[in-house]
Amino acid sequence: MSTKHIKRVGLIGLGAIGKRVLGALQREHLPQAAYAAIDPSAASTGFASEHGIALFSDVQGLLDWKPDLVIECAGHGAVVQVVPPLLQAGVDVVIASIGALADKALAKDLETAAEAGGARLILVSGAIGGLDAMRSARAAGLDEVLYTGRKPPQAWAGTPAETEFDLAGITVPTTIFRGTAAEASLKFPKNANVTAAVALSGVGFEATRVELVADPTVAKNIHEVKVKGAFGELGIWLANNPLPDNVKTSWLAALSIEEAVSKQVLTTVF
Ligand SMILES: NC(=O)c1ccc[n+]([C@@H]2O[C@H](COP(=O)([O-])OP(=O)(O)OC[C@H]3O[C@@H](n4cnc5c(N)ncnc54)[C@H](O)[C@@H]3O)[C@@H](O)[C@H]2O)c1
Repeated sequence: MSTKHIKRVGLIGLGAIGKRVLGALQREHLPQAAYAAIDPSAASTGFASEHGIALFSDVQGLLDWKPDLVIECAGHGAVVQVVPPLLQAGVDVVIASIGALADKALAKDLETAAEAGGARLILVSGAIGGLDAMRSARAAGLDEVLYTGRKPPQAWAGTPAETEFDLAGITVPTTIFRGTAAEASLKFPKNANVTAAVALSGVGFEATRVELVADPTVAKNIHEVKVKGAFGELGIWLANNPLPDNVKTSWLAALSIEEAVSKQVLTTVF
């Protein structure tokens, strides 16, 4: 199997996902490539020099290094600040923080920048999966898309659910939010990446229904998607394990970036 030439890879964010993805790319997918990163918190750790990575403090430094591909795994702020100039300069960018696209003005800016630069914005499915079937099915028309996110009650601490419900006292599965994907993205930003992946693969932010459940019977983050349309019906169910380095991040999110990057270097893609 031949490969395209990706010789220089940039990472925005060297946290749990960034480190995991970097390790997999250096070991398996792109062992010959050079690597660079932007992450203000990495400067003092020595991680970059230990792994032979050039570290830049701003996007201009990374642009001058001339990356062939950049991977964002930093957060929504980085999508706003760092990704548009990269796209405008013609650099393909893989983004993990796709919840940022719930902001219509930002989504438009990214599209305009990608068109101007002739670059591609590559969205990953992240902590959810099976969405290829929904993307195929929507050409024939989708009638209904419902995403349900289920977590143990205490996992909703720090969200609006904390003020509306006595999380510690919940003993049966309790719906803490019911609304559109657009509303869910704003109210529950920690869930926004999965919500966005579902919305963007199906009927959009306004028509996708979301239910969030504080469920004392589960120990992991459970994602469910139910889809109905002319094609028939589809059900997705996922129970994600966390990344060992960050219990708040699903392991599958890092794996989906690795897969997205490996697709860029393969000539045969499934
Ligand atoms: N698509 C999904 O399903 C999914 C799942 C989990 C996480 N994510 C996204 O991936 C991001 C990273 O996840 P993680 O677990 O690695 O988080 P993390 O907190 O372990 O690491 C994030 C790193 O990014 C750095 N950073 C923050 N803002 C930056 C900026 N503007 N420029 C450069 N570096 C910056 C931080 O210093 C930190 O080292 C999350 O913020 C989230 O948006 C997506």
